[in-house]
Amino acid sequence: MEISFSLKALTTAALLGTAGLVMAHGNVTPQPVDTGNLPVLGDEILAENPFRKGGSHGDANALAVEIGESAYAGNCAGCHGIRAMSGGLTPDLRELTEWDDEYYMGRVQNGTDRGMPSWKKTLEQNAIWAIRTYIESLPKPE
Ligand code: HEC
Repeated sequence: MEISFSLKALTTAALLGTAGLVMAHGNVTPQPVDTGNLPVLGDEILAENPFRKGGSHGDANALAVEIGESAYAGNCAGCHGIRAMSGGLTPDLRELTEWDDEYYMGRVQNGTDRGMPSWKKTLEQNAIWAIRTYIESLPKPE
């Protein structure tokens, strides 16, 4: 099955690099995200991705992609697939458009009752938008 393949790949990645990434039966231990020099956005949740080119912090786009990549790998890839290539069991996040910003943020903050945890307490707003910026930098599905 595709899913066990990607979990195996991830486990290998975890052994090689990051400690503390636990994958068992879909449970994920949130991995702290070092947001480095990424602008801090405060508590008020923005309705648009500020790191998109042309956005309010668009000059941080490249940095956001970089930070988003490791934040995604540590926290989302276990379920949504490496480089956001969904195996079909979870939504393909590359399908979201820029008009889905609020929807994306709401989902990630609150989670869903069908298997998606809430990230409100574990990820800063800038980390969540950085992940979105990273996903947007990936090629769209065929
Ligand atoms: C434990 C598995 C799991 C992890 C980890 C996970 N998700 Fe999800 N996610 C899901 C599932 C399952 C759904 C579909 C839920 C539903 O249909 O209600 C989902 C749905 C979503 C959606 C809604 C997409 C849509 O098209 O409706 C977004 C956005 C999302 N996840 C983003 C993320 C991000 C960003 C991360 C990492 C910070 C993440 N998820 C981590 C399982 C996970």
